Amino acid sequence: MSKEKEKSADFRYNTGKSRVPWAAVGENYNWQDVSEAVKFLIPQGTKPDKPYNTQLQKVKKDLQQLWKNGSSATKLSLGSQVQKFEEETKKLLNCKYAVFLTNATAGFEIAFKFAGLKPGDEVIIPAITFIASMMYPLAIGAKVVLADIDPKTLNIDPKDIERKITSKTKVIMPVHIGGYPADMDSIMKLAEKHNITVIEDAAHAFGAEYKGKKLGTIGHFGSYSFHEVKNITSFGEGGILVTNEDCGEYFTQARFVGFHIAKPIPLWLYDVIALKWRGDYFAPGNHSATELQALGALLHMKRLEKIIEKRREAAEYLNSRFKDEPGIIVPPLDTNQIKSTHHLYLFQVDPTQLNGDIQTFKQKLATKGITQIPHFAPLYRFSIMKQLGYDVEKIKQTCPNAEEAFLHRFTHLPLYNFTKAQLKYLADAVIESVEEMRK
Ligand SMILES: Cc1ncc(COP(=O)(O)O)c(C=O)c1O
Repeated sequence: MSKEKEKSADFRYNTGKSRVPWAAVGENYNWQDVSEAVKFLIPQGTKPDKPYNTQLQKVKKDLQQLWKNGSSATKLSLGSQVQKFEEETKKLLNCKYAVFLTNATAGFEIAFKFAGLKPGDEVIIPAITFIASMMYPLAIGAKVVLADIDPKTLNIDPKDIERKITSKTKVIMPVHIGGYPADMDSIMKLAEKHNITVIEDAAHAFGAEYKGKKLGTIGHFGSYSFHEVKNITSFGEGGILVTNEDCGEYFTQARFVGFHIAKPIPLWLYDVIALKWRGDYFAPGNHSATELQALGALLHMKRLEKIIEKRREAAEYLNSRFKDEPGIIVPPLDTNQIKSTHHLYLFQVDPTQLNGDIQTFKQKLATKGITQIPHFAPLYRFSIMKQLGYDVEKIKQTCPNAEEAFLHRFTHLPLYNFTKAQLKYLADAVIESVEEMRK
């Protein structure tokens, strides 16, 4: 058995020297399965059918040959790829601990548990975010308190956080919408003053910077998403939770029912522990991600800088086209202190200068073949809040900027690996639509 193979053996399963090894993978994938996976990842395009099918047959033949010469993967969950991605993430973000998970929402759950969140405690969350941010507090009967947003960035407004802090506030959860930083200095000041845990929803912000630090590493915890729509993905789902706090020793054990994936267990005599940081002991769940997910994240991570750079250039181009157009409000761009991931382009109109508002604009844009996604509705608009007993009318009144932005001013424009022609078409269509609406 080669040194390499021995090294890659998992501590729980002997895939190395044994005469009768017990590989972690019960049943292997064969070359036909792998060729189906290739077909799934590289489906037939709009080009004529024959060359695709001919190429596919060639790939299948090669895979069959490879299968004869190779061996099967012996580990598909929580192995060396997961560890490698965690190490690379720690280097990139300059943080002490990182744990790769099924998704960012799992990261929030773990962070809330470490924060000691209990039923009746309060969590301050921005009114505009994705619903996932508030799911764990709702699930356990903690109280979600929605704070209004800063209309320039759509991020949480620290002044409204301050108004809404009570003696029951356990967690503040800023969300860096589109990868643009919330006002972390003000938020951390409030958190320190009132001894509150800060969990950053950094779902959009993997690689973004705020005053020399990476977003997601400024609060006590930060959770990032690698869901398929994000700047980088881990084959469709994935997330990573990071911290610099001293719960770090037990941190990765919160992922998989208390196990430490790198720690050898002699003779399978293992123990499982409850975990704690602030608050009482809690039982860890199972949020394990696969080796293939980690490999997917590692591959995309190599291109992260270039991906962000291309999006930044696209955002700069759109701003340069829109900034002098009456009726359009452009989003803030990067500065020396702030580097967004440009995950989303935050587009706003000023209805006072136009006939109609963002709803009229969206209709006009759709007729020109442009997809736009408002996506982040104020959370009090979702039925779940009413069903769980929240007085949504009262909450709405305390979040006037969120209501105005969502109904009348904002949408997201697509921003990804565009051709120059696509980007120009997008900018032209936006300007034309606004011109049609101008008073
Ligand atoms: C702001 C925000 N928070 C949290 C999430 C949840 O991420 P995940 O799907 O990885 O759980 C998303 C996903 O789109 C998001 O946009």
